[in-house]
Amino acid sequence: MSNKLKIGVLISGQGSNLKALINACKEPNFPVEIALVISNVTNAKGIKHAKSADISCIIIDHKKYINRKDFEAAMTQSLSEAKVELVCLAGFMRLLSEQFIKPWLNRLINIHPSLLPSFKGLNVHDRAIKAGAKFSGCTVHFVRNGVDNGPIIAQSVVPIYNDDTSIDLAKRILEQEHRLYPSVVRWFAEDRVKFQGQRVVVTGIDPPSTVMINPSLGS
Ligand code: GRF
Repeated sequence: MSNKLKIGVLISGQGSNLKALINACKEPNFPVEIALVISNVTNAKGIKHAKSADISCIIIDHKKYINRKDFEAAMTQSLSEAKVELVCLAGFMRLLSEQFIKPWLNRLINIHPSLLPSFKGLNVHDRAIKAGAKFSGCTVHFVRNGVDNGPIIAQSVVPIYNDDTSIDLAKRILEQEHRLYPSVVRWFAEDRVKFQGQRVVVTGIDPPSTVMINPSLGS
């Protein structure tokens, strides 16, 4: 039996973060395996990544459930049956209630394309550019009640250039997401993600290392 950390990945869309996790898990010594992928959207583009890697993938379509409670209960049941130890939201576009969060407390993480707590929610790149921010990035955080809310685990920073469109910025940040999310799940597998009061620290590395600075920033 494998002693790798079993993760479940929840998607709704293109699944490029799922693909990055799949690629990381293909590395021989990567201590994580994807036990289950759940999509709440029947024809989500990301499903193909799971299929071509031979990973169990199921559709749990929220529209087929009378209420959020039943939809979430179905997901929890499938994740538990697959013996998932850590749930990773990767472009999962449903708000999760306390009922789902509670049983997965501190075993449920999300990736968001901004430097939280700035720019929660949608249209983040447009909003960051319009606000005149000089940097943006991505954040992996524990999930708590509310939108993009919860203790920050790690962030990656990118510059915002004067002539950036939201498409340019989204692309630059997504590249960082694909590096950051696999790193974070590895830290979980190595049991290095700890709370220090309200803050999350990753043991074995200096705190600044949980912030990945994009090399293109220069000195
Ligand atoms: C990513 O930008 C992620 O941060 C956000 O949704 C997007 C999902 O992209 N939560 P993908 O489906 O992983 O390509």
